[in-house]
Amino acid sequence: MKQNSSFALKGNVCFSTDKNTLVSREHAYVVCENGKCAGVFSSLPEKFQGIPVRDAGDSLIVPGFADLHLHAPQYSFRGMGMDLELLDWLNSVTFPEESKYSDQEYARKAYSIFAEDLKKSETTRACIFGTLHVEATDILMELLEKTGLKTFVGKVNMDRNGPDTLQEKSAEISAADTIRWLDSCTGKYQNVKPILTPRFIPSCSDELMKKLAEIQKHYKLPVQSHLSENPGEVSWVQELCPESSFYGDAYRQFDLFGGKDCPTIMAHCVYCPEEEIQLMKEQGVYVAHCPQSNTNLSSGIAPVKLYLEQGIHTGLGTDIAGGHSLSMLRAVSDSIQVSKLHWRYIDSNRKPLTFEEAFYIGTMGGGEFFGKTGSFLEGYEFDAVILDDTYFPHPQPLTVRERLERLTYLSDARCVTGKYVSGTEIF
Ligand code: GUN
Ligand code: FE
Repeated sequence: MKQNSSFALKGNVCFSTDKNTLVSREHAYVVCENGKCAGVFSSLPEKFQGIPVRDAGDSLIVPGFADLHLHAPQYSFRGMGMDLELLDWLNSVTFPEESKYSDQEYARKAYSIFAEDLKKSETTRACIFGTLHVEATDILMELLEKTGLKTFVGKVNMDRNGPDTLQEKSAEISAADTIRWLDSCTGKYQNVKPILTPRFIPSCSDELMKKLAEIQKHYKLPVQSHLSENPGEVSWVQELCPESSFYGDAYRQFDLFGGKDCPTIMAHCVYCPEEEIQLMKEQGVYVAHCPQSNTNLSSGIAPVKLYLEQGIHTGLGTDIAGGHSLSMLRAVSDSIQVSKLHWRYIDSNRKPLTFEEAFYIGTMGGGEFFGKTGSFLEGYEFDAVILDDTYFPHPQPLTVRERLERLTYLSDARCVTGKYVSGTEIF
């Protein structure tokens, strides 16, 4: 990894400036100054003459992608056990695998594979679930730190409705382990930060949620969890929390649902009633839209177009291993595909996502959770990805915009040939 105070990348540059606008510039320079983007230029301005230039040739250069939701311990079984719905899948596939992370040797082996693949992907920022194990979560953070990617990692909290092998024995133990974990990792890493991670309402007792709210306030932590993913899950939450008016209200009761001092990501949001959507909007909750997972687990189709129209913060998540692919370009194309089914089968008043909108949520929309990231507008963190599309030859001339759309559907890991995070070269 190399750092340089000023340098430029040269290639075919494409980036969002808002949800409807994708700027593309042929053979242009993106300049990095002290880790931030200093602008995109057709030729290097006078003040940047002489800075080092990495010439990416005819490749595409795009901002880094933000994966707002994925589970590192589940990377080991991606693409397996895909014939189940959420709750059965958790009990029969997910919880048994996550139990293995009590073994630090297993955790190191599994997390090394995960960290290496994430490093090579188009993702530059991510919000990641670990397991309930403190030591394994430390190992995950240590390995991710070395990748240079900027991530939030959560030790998972779960003190009810799990198997004996994957459940904290009491709310006290869950809270004490969380504090032990936070005290050991806070300030230890430059790139990896902790995020509070109650698994979802069915896994967390009221007593635990109260303690987590205190911890959130004391350590000023962001929060990540799951919301309104599956019909069976939603009705179970209603039974578990009869006093709450809707799923999100069960988080809100404990002050763990957004607001100025509690940045929050909720994954899925497939079955949010109107009041829940209203509350997410008021509280600035981020939606992590996970189209591939929602398809694999037959969860449903989230109304992303509605979220965008409502001005709700929206990003994309791979939700490994509900989703089987770590690729955020794939998440972008999946989001377009499922939005077409939503339009055709569920709500004919809302058109499918445009390519502009889908690319925006994969980069700038989710990127906002990390500050000014996900665009090459001046002042944004210099997170950049170089994409080579020569594996897919074409006979006809194509514009840069056409090549990006096409590669979003066709790409695989070979296409990612360079990556930068806040100006630091990852490869
Ligand atoms: N809800 C609670 N835990 C999980 C999980 O691991 N994956 C998904 N997709 N949903 C969940
Ligand atoms: Fe998930």
